[in-house]
Amino acid sequence: MASGERGSARRSAWHAAVGALLLGAGGLALVFLAGGCGGSEEGSTAAAPGGARKEGPASEAKAGGTGRPPATPQRAEPSLAERARAVLGVIPPVAEPEGYERTPAKISLGRMLYFEGRLSVNGKISCNSCHPLDRFGADGEPTSPGHDGTRGERNSPSTYHAAFHVAQFWDGRAKDVEEQAKAPILNPIEMGMPSEEAVLEMLRGIPTYVEAFAAAFPGEATPLTYENLAIAIGAFARGLVTPSRFDLFLEGDEGALTAHEKEGLRLFLDVGCTTCHQGATIGGTMFQKLGVVHPYPTEDPGRFAVTGNEADRFVFKVPSLRNVARTAPYFHDGKVATLPEAVRLMAWHQLGKELEPGEIDAIVTFLASLTGTIDRVYTAKPELP
Ligand code: HEC
Ligand code: HEC
Repeated sequence: MASGERGSARRSAWHAAVGALLLGAGGLALVFLAGGCGGSEEGSTAAAPGGARKEGPASEAKAGGTGRPPATPQRAEPSLAERARAVLGVIPPVAEPEGYERTPAKISLGRMLYFEGRLSVNGKISCNSCHPLDRFGADGEPTSPGHDGTRGERNSPSTYHAAFHVAQFWDGRAKDVEEQAKAPILNPIEMGMPSEEAVLEMLRGIPTYVEAFAAAFPGEATPLTYENLAIAIGAFARGLVTPSRFDLFLEGDEGALTAHEKEGLRLFLDVGCTTCHQGATIGGTMFQKLGVVHPYPTEDPGRFAVTGNEADRFVFKVPSLRNVARTAPYFHDGKVATLPEAVRLMAWHQLGKELEPGEIDAIVTFLASLTGTIDRVYTAKPELP
């Protein structure tokens, strides 16, 4: 599991605390936590942010609960951080599913390919053009111009934390970041390469790439393949993670959030945003209809285009809200310019609620605390051959 040693020490500490709490609270708290975890366990991949929750505070509580007398019932009231931990989570350092191992050679090749403009037909458009890593992986455009300036129909989501998601793209049509990486290079309005073979031919002509593929895929008869290109980009993408102040708060640092941010978090939980925006990535764990309560005007069929299932019309992947204050404009169509407007529309279309301006303001302030720290070394543009 991706959280590795770093996560397990922390988790056992808070599990001990929650264990003690549950002991006192009895069935009531168990019901609360079980309710909080509901909804996403099936849809999560091995690397999904729900992983930490899968182990379940409740089962841990049983282990910690042996032979101690019940405490006072007042302790049933969970703190804000405990409530948040039940549905959200500390971001793991990397998105590595069970049994998956990234190597430095794969990561370094993946980084080069991420910045490589020659993967496009005009030699100029790289992954970083539409997902600039120094700008939280989003280009600030409603929809992104490709190699000939033509724009697609959808907003470019961030590449940070994407590897944790249940699937890739707004409609989930690729299962992971490896499968995803194959698409934009050949997409006629994105990078526009005519064929996989054309991509491989270009790479074969650059000795540094031939060596880098051999180093990344040692022992393979033909290291330079389109499949391996996708694996290398995926290895790099799995390390695009930005821990934030919110993680410190979840870990128990009460002072990591301001009073206004905490008020926003409380509203975020109370209003019902976490029925959909869950897990360590605060989204990315499930698909939901856009316009569940009040229809949202869009022509985009969403997940219907992937499954052909009428119930999937206007269904999209619930996006991660990490760094959301820095990835405007919003929604799959990029038509929502500001974060306050996005929050207002969410409450209306998804929950049937009209939030007061003060409530929107507090939620927006909380969401800004999800802006993380970019690892400038990991994400620096490498020297290209
Ligand atoms: C011309 C702009 C453009 C380029 C170049 C581009 N992308 Fe994207 N990317 C997009 C758009 C637009 C989407 C959303 C498309 C959709 O959902 O249908 C997307 C989606 C993604 C996603 C899914 C994220 C999520 O939350 O679902 C990942 C990961 C990603 N791109 C990585 C890459 C990589 C890696 C490259 C280089 C091989 C790349 N992109 C090149 C525009 C671009
Ligand atoms: C019923 C599920 C659901 C609920 C409840 C919900 N959301 Fe969303 N949220 C979504 C979906 C689905 C999208 C993607 C919309 C799209 O495809 O355009 C989204 C998008 C967003 C976005 C835009 C992110 C981006 O990168 O474009 C923000 C911000 C957001 N939600 C915040 C909230 C807040 C705040 C609440 C509570 C007031 C909330 N959401 C409640 C499902 C939900």
